Amino acid sequence: MSHVEEDHEGTRRDFLYYATAGAGAVTAGAAIWPLVNQMNPSADVLALSSIRVDVSAIEPGTQLTVKWLGKPVFIRRRTADEIEAAQAVDLADLPDNDARNENLPNGGDGDDGNRFLPPPPGAEGAAAGEWLVMMGVCTHLGCVPLGDAGDFGGWFCPCHGSHYDTSGRIRKGPAPTNLPVPVAEFVDETTILLG
Ligand code: FES
Repeated sequence: MSHVEEDHEGTRRDFLYYATAGAGAVTAGAAIWPLVNQMNPSADVLALSSIRVDVSAIEPGTQLTVKWLGKPVFIRRRTADEIEAAQAVDLADLPDNDARNENLPNGGDGDDGNRFLPPPPGAEGAAAGEWLVMMGVCTHLGCVPLGDAGDFGGWFCPCHGSHYDTSGRIRKGPAPTNLPVPVAEFVDETTILLG
């Protein structure tokens, strides 16, 4: 076999690998979006760079997925157990010890305190750490991870087996980084502004 043929084969293998990964992404997305789409803002709102999301109906232990700038965003209201689990993690155990939080211009480590959304006005104290807002896009090859799943009680990406914890931090599997936290804030007690 000539070098040229070997190179060609290598290229073809790479192509097949990525093509399969892409098919996985479509499958995972298809399973999730029918549920999610009912909760999405109307089409004209989707084009906006900032959207307001009413989170008043989200119970502890559940999440809402909204589409923003063409991508899913997870808005999770965490239980006390989820918060405790996230905050008990030794940072030395994190494959990616980086906050990945766009709301922290100076960065920060992967501590859960650098990840969750500050509570709405007047809800400090008991509610601190309850809300977690993240892009719902696996940092490996872009599938949509499943909630309440995986070895760390957070999210699991079925495409190639990445496990995220209850702070959305990668703990096991091929994904290189934590799920990113987009620019977000509470603008009143029940409304989160994305972007
Ligand atoms: S896309 Fe590969 S593990 Fe998520």
